[in-house]
Amino acid sequence: MKDQKACCIWLTGLSGAGKSTIAELLEVLLKREGRHTYILDGDNVRANLNSDLGFSIGDREENIRRMAAVAHLMVDAGLIVIVACIAPLKGQREKARLLFESDQFFEVFVDAPIDICESRDTKGLYKKAREGLIINFTGIDSPYEIPEKPDIRIDTSLCTPSESAMHVFREIQGYCTS
Ligand code: ADX
Repeated sequence: MKDQKACCIWLTGLSGAGKSTIAELLEVLLKREGRHTYILDGDNVRANLNSDLGFSIGDREENIRRMAAVAHLMVDAGLIVIVACIAPLKGQREKARLLFESDQFFEVFVDAPIDICESRDTKGLYKKAREGLIINFTGIDSPYEIPEKPDIRIDTSLCTPSESAMHVFREIQGYCTS
């Protein structure tokens, strides 16, 4: 009915790397092709379904487990799901991947050096983390494990948001339409 192959495109990376921006631009590109998509953004899902969770390792584990479970249901329903979620640890991302068919999950590393993310500080959170007002902040006092073999890697310190979204779009276009 949808004339598309459903999949999960998981954007991982530091806060401020550009995950949400790229998710939105990627959705525009996919919608333009008539694809039916949905964005699951860590910030938004944490405002409702995951409002009981914080940023300890255990809470992040549960946050990511639920994000992956919801993404999986949506893929099962035929959608192209774009997840924008830090998912800082390799094991968390691997567990998410295992829910899906092997070709249905794309790990996209939205990469940017932490000093660039920090200088963007769109939400003012790095400043607060440096002042000790937020603890367990990814990249400051909580780990981020760099994806070793992401399906797609984009460096947002070198590409514009539109270029980054187009890069991901080109990589997955063939899959979604085949
Ligand atoms: S995850 O680590 O559990 O995958 P998630 O992607 O849902 O994180 O949420 C990250 C967002 O929460 C960030 O973009 C930022 O806006 C906000 N945030 C608030 N506190 C923290 C923190 N301690 N570490 C990282 N992000 C935080």
